[in-house]
Amino acid sequence: MFPSPFVVGGRKVLWSDVVLTLKAPRWEGCEPFIETNQSRIHGVEVTKRLDRRERAATEECAPDLTIVFSFCNPPGQSRSQFIIGSDPATCDIVCTSFEISNQHVKFGIEGEHIVMYDVSSRGSQLALGGREPQWTWPKPGIPYRCILPPNTNITLKISDGLMFQVDVPALKGKALQEFTKKRNVFHARCSDFGALNIHSQIPTKSATPSQSATRRRREHMYWFESKLGEGGFGAVYRIRRLQDWAVFAAKQVVEHGRASEALADRPSVIVAKRANLEAEMKTLQRLQHERIVKYVDWYEDQSDRWVLVMEHCPQGSLQDKIWREKILFTPSTTAEVLKQVAEGLLYLHGKGITHRDLKPGNILVRSWSPLSLALCDFGLAKQRRAFSGSAMYTTCGTPSHMAPEMWTRGAGYTKAIDIWALGVVGAELLGTKIPGLKTTKEDRYPDLMFQIAETMSDNNPGNRLVALVGRMLAWNPADQPTAAECIRDATTARVK
Ligand SMILES: Nc1ncnc2c1ncn2[C@@H]1O[C@H](COP(=O)(O)OP(=O)(O)O)[C@@H](O)[C@H]1O
Ligand SMILES: [Mg+2]
Repeated sequence: MFPSPFVVGGRKVLWSDVVLTLKAPRWEGCEPFIETNQSRIHGVEVTKRLDRRERAATEECAPDLTIVFSFCNPPGQSRSQFIIGSDPATCDIVCTSFEISNQHVKFGIEGEHIVMYDVSSRGSQLALGGREPQWTWPKPGIPYRCILPPNTNITLKISDGLMFQVDVPALKGKALQEFTKKRNVFHARCSDFGALNIHSQIPTKSATPSQSATRRRREHMYWFESKLGEGGFGAVYRIRRLQDWAVFAAKQVVEHGRASEALADRPSVIVAKRANLEAEMKTLQRLQHERIVKYVDWYEDQSDRWVLVMEHCPQGSLQDKIWREKILFTPSTTAEVLKQVAEGLLYLHGKGITHRDLKPGNILVRSWSPLSLALCDFGLAKQRRAFSGSAMYTTCGTPSHMAPEMWTRGAGYTKAIDIWALGVVGAELLGTKIPGLKTTKEDRYPDLMFQIAETMSDNNPGNRLVALVGRMLAWNPADQPTAAECIRDATTARVK
């Protein structure tokens, strides 16, 4: 038996009955023609439809049309989706005087999610939270599936003059229980539930960017929310996977970014940056360690740009903390930071990989308490196999964190440059102000850092943490500790 009929139409709608409300349309100059196909409506109730005169009178307080999805009503046809389009034979809401497909948008239920399917030939636009539409289904004509996040307000623009407000309720606690119960009954009555047959596309781990024959256009799977940061090579955004609304970070090449203003549009620079991101993706795919940011997915967007999807670290980078928030670290936090970064380096160095751009901006913070760090930005990381010799020669990285041997062109350098960079990070955490690039000649940095380390050691005799940072900044790589020694010493310095 179905639960008792729900209460709508002027009266309050019961919280457990409501799944989704469409308020249609926003009138934009023209007079649309919308019909609700009553005979087709199932599990859906039209609460109010006003004619023009009535609407003028109630403009301020009443929406033009409110449709409430509910599972209390048995489905009229053996179909479980709610359809908007121009075909009176198959649609629940029929809009004839617009550019709209026979069947344009469908709404359905998958598990606890309310899902929207765009099956139109021309695509629709979506905007979250009542903002202006900012996102188009990227490929009209191909069905797209999008989970509507709970407790949000979405604007769906079907064509000029035809927009819907979609209010998705928060489904929690008791409401969720009730919803689940009713949904199950509803599903049992719908013979072709899921007939649209669009399956969620869980990213496959094995695919790599080099498989360009199988182009991976998956931007429709992600929703870009806000910019998290921008470095010399890429911009990183906070994104949502539409399938489950999970948060990730996405890195894209910046073709006209800050760092490349002077070089903007120069194809060779863009090619180099793309190559960098490809290298980063390939490296990251092979890495699996608590101290390394986790790889999730990659795809090519409509402009053929690669997008690297990775775990989102909600606390940003150490750089944000040190420079923007000007937070001073306690010695014990500093020791823990050095230990965790050294753990990442131990893992990388064990695989023959040198990071080559270690600095606070490339150390991400998952959480502060307990502290959990992850290394990111592997665009310059270099793999060296033992048999091909361990020296590297390319001068690269960030000048302030570059080791002395990197400046001695031709001499070659090893993974020890990561330990030097970690020493600079340690000095920064202990309160050293690194002079700006404009005031210092780049190749003077190693001298400066060396002097800073010596002064710090002189002023803090017996301080294990300062001594450790001092050894990381030893001029001769042979005198520097290995990553494993850094972990050991940072652990004892913390305990002390
Ligand atoms: N996974 C992530 N989670 C949160 N913030 C991130 C993430 N990845 C990068 N960021 C932010 O974006 C900035 C730039 O990212 P990064 O990979 O270092 O790009 P670039 O190669 O341009 O330096 C980082 O300093 C950090 O603030
Ligand atoms: Mg970076």
